[in-house]
Amino acid sequence: MNKAYRQKIMVIMVIFLLGFVVFACGSPDQTEETPPADTVEEVEVEVEELPVFTLEDLAEYDGKEGRPAYVAVDGMVYDFTELGRWQGGTHNGFEAGQDLTEPLQEVSPHGESVLSRAPVVGTLQE
Ligand code: HEM
Repeated sequence: MNKAYRQKIMVIMVIFLLGFVVFACGSPDQTEETPPADTVEEVEVEVEELPVFTLEDLAEYDGKEGRPAYVAVDGMVYDFTELGRWQGGTHNGFEAGQDLTEPLQEVSPHGESVLSRAPVVGTLQE
């Protein structure tokens, strides 16, 4: 084995070694766990921060004369002001500014599925 050949082998080995070091030291996958967006605690804290309405407060949000249209269902207060079918605060004979839990569940054909279209603005005082 002549000197030039040995040198060539050495160079190849050094390059291979360097390549391995670079590969091994490369930044690992960033698989750090991100916390779940809505833990039960976070949702509870958010609900606690919402304003609490009495039935008397709620009655002021009847959707008439430019006032917002708020409706309570299951202890939550929803803002129906922007909903097309609640313009003027009325909908199929029902009026905003009240707790409509019972008619929503017992009389309406849609049930609570429509509530996801309205933002929650508060909770109803128990
Ligand atoms: C006789 C009773 C009722 C009838 C026949 C009725 C009928 C309807 C119909 C046909 C729609 C449209 C459904 C759709 O777009 O998928 C609707 C929407 C809706 N209803 Fe009722 N409803 C009744 C009572 C109620 C009550 C008591 C509430 C109280 C919470 C309510 C809340 C809503 C809401 C929030 C929407 C969505 C409105 C929108 O997106 O513009 N409904 N209703």
